Amino acid sequence: MKILLLGKNGQVGWELQRALAPLGELVALDRHQGADLADIEALAATVRAQAPQVIVNAAAYTAVDKAESEPELARQINTLAPARLALEAKALGALLLHYTTDYDFDGSGSDARAEDAPTAPLSVYGRTKLDGEQAIRASGCQHLILRTSWVYAARGGNFAKTMLRLAAEREQLKVIADQIGAPTGADLLADLSAHMIRATRAQPALAGTYHAVASGESSWHAYAHYVIEFARARGKPVKVAPDQVLAIPTSDYPTPATRPLNSRLANTKLQQRFGLTLPHWQQGVERMLHEIL
Ligand SMILES: NC(=O)c1ccc[n+]([C@@H]2O[C@H](COP(=O)([O-])OP(=O)(O)OC[C@H]3O[C@@H](n4cnc5c(N)ncnc54)[C@H](OP(=O)(O)O)[C@@H]3O)[C@@H](O)[C@H]2O)c1
Repeated sequence: MKILLLGKNGQVGWELQRALAPLGELVALDRHQGADLADIEALAATVRAQAPQVIVNAAAYTAVDKAESEPELARQINTLAPARLALEAKALGALLLHYTTDYDFDGSGSDARAEDAPTAPLSVYGRTKLDGEQAIRASGCQHLILRTSWVYAARGGNFAKTMLRLAAEREQLKVIADQIGAPTGADLLADLSAHMIRATRAQPALAGTYHAVASGESSWHAYAHYVIEFARARGKPVKVAPDQVLAIPTSDYPTPATRPLNSRLANTKLQQRFGLTLPHWQQGVERMLHEIL
């Protein structure tokens, strides 16, 4: 099986280079290797020249706040490029695996949303991602769309590293407590992707849209607290006292893009249909902390 991976150096792309390698011939490209999602004709030519059986698109415009002032570029990368990839996949008879986001939803209520819940993005990023996945579904290509949330990786910057740095420098931290979601490891997403590609190639009826998130839920505040107390318990430098990690509402931390408050995604469909287990978010975060501390 030949797999074409786009966006190989992102959080998820990096882990996919590891997880997809055992499945067959892996061609992993970045934007400087004929896979710039802002240059759609060149991208399409690359896909045709490679003629893969599977296309994995880990590239995206992910700068959520910046997207508010660059809507055209975000649309090019998050909507038009995936739409074209879907047409190329259809022509090749290839499986297209693509990632999308909890920002598809407006974040109202407190229930975990299923895959077919009504969408209503609050931001340019969310709108462009939603339009991209809808174009893939409408194209008729065989696809796996994995909707995920709060992605972290040991490599590069992440929320946990920021909290650990601030906790070592400051006596008080203020962290948003009214956004709820599930921190999900790029390593978990990559491993799920490999399993799902293999299963779907053998059983095409498994194709479709899935919520791919770790189990359990947290606020950013509870996530920060977990990370800081993990470091303190291991004797790492922590200046902030436990009761000085203060919970604040989103309204106290204005950003250009509006974020959903309720990012809970129900992950039972993926687990049941693929016979896979999605571990609790703390399991992956603890692993990442062991790696970075
Ligand atoms: N991060 C999250 O919390 C989160 C949450 C929900 C869903 N998702 C989705 O999960 C997927 C993977 O996200 P991630 O966290 O791995 O993102 P990431 O670390 O920001 O990686 C995105 C990758 O896309 C590449 N890229 C950006 N513009 C490009 C272009 N014009 N052409 C080619 N490549 C381009 C970047 O390349 P450079 O390195 O060259 O800039 C980077 O390697 C995305 O679809 C994202 O929307 C992420």
